[in-house]
Amino acid sequence: MDIQNLQKNLIFKNKILYFETINSTNTYLKENHNTLDSNTLVIAKTQTLGRGKNNRTWFSPFGGIYFSLLLKQDNSKNDILPLISGLAIVKSLSKFNIDTYLKWPNDIILHKKKLGGILVESKISKNSKAYIIGIGLNISSLLPSFEIKDKFISLNETVDTIPHNDVLISDICNNIFTLLDDKISVDVIIEEYKKYCLILEKNVYLLKDNSDGIFVNVLDVNCDGSLKVLDLKLNEFFDIYSGEFFISGIYDQI
Ligand code: BTN
Repeated sequence: MDIQNLQKNLIFKNKILYFETINSTNTYLKENHNTLDSNTLVIAKTQTLGRGKNNRTWFSPFGGIYFSLLLKQDNSKNDILPLISGLAIVKSLSKFNIDTYLKWPNDIILHKKKLGGILVESKISKNSKAYIIGIGLNISSLLPSFEIKDKFISLNETVDTIPHNDVLISDICNNIFTLLDDKISVDVIIEEYKKYCLILEKNVYLLKDNSDGIFVNVLDVNCDGSLKVLDLKLNEFFDIYSGEFFISGIYDQI
């Protein structure tokens, strides 16, 4: 990891904290956000307690990219940070001719498998707001078990020329900053997001706990990042928010 090059390429002169091993870059920022400046970037070579969405573990061996970005600014787009970060990643990878897609809200999909994931967390109190965007990408990670290999993919399995980690990280951060800029409207972001959104116009099951799924058609992505769906049994429209349901029926395993 060439930290100097990374620093040079970032459009904001972020403070960078680099760890060989850490429990979790997100946990580090959750615990230390009060004393750190906005735009601080925490990067680790490996994580011992990497965390994923829905309280899952994020397997974090050497060879992957693991970083978290701290944002403390007020921004009307903070609610759609999960979508913005997903879009930032697919845009970066496409610069290197790597075509990836998004399973709403922000699983990064390559060849129908999960290449990466994003965990956005916030710590909001009376006097302060902190948003933490945690990004994990399998680059040249040795995925151990058959079970994991079935669901996840590493970039080196299908891509010959892999961009350097520092180049990818700075480009993803720069895309996030650009998308957060006032010059770009939420409508423009959502329209661009929709181009990569795999479940749009598809029929999927919405699953909650052990209940039977609700069979819906995905109609649209709303400007707050939620999904507009049509219940195909009751013929009723409703909106769903990230974390409310698991989406099944397409790239099921993820
Ligand atoms: C997901 O479940 O899809 C989200 C995975 C997010 C993993 C990243 S790796 C860097 C940061 N630190 C963590 O503990 N999690 C996020």
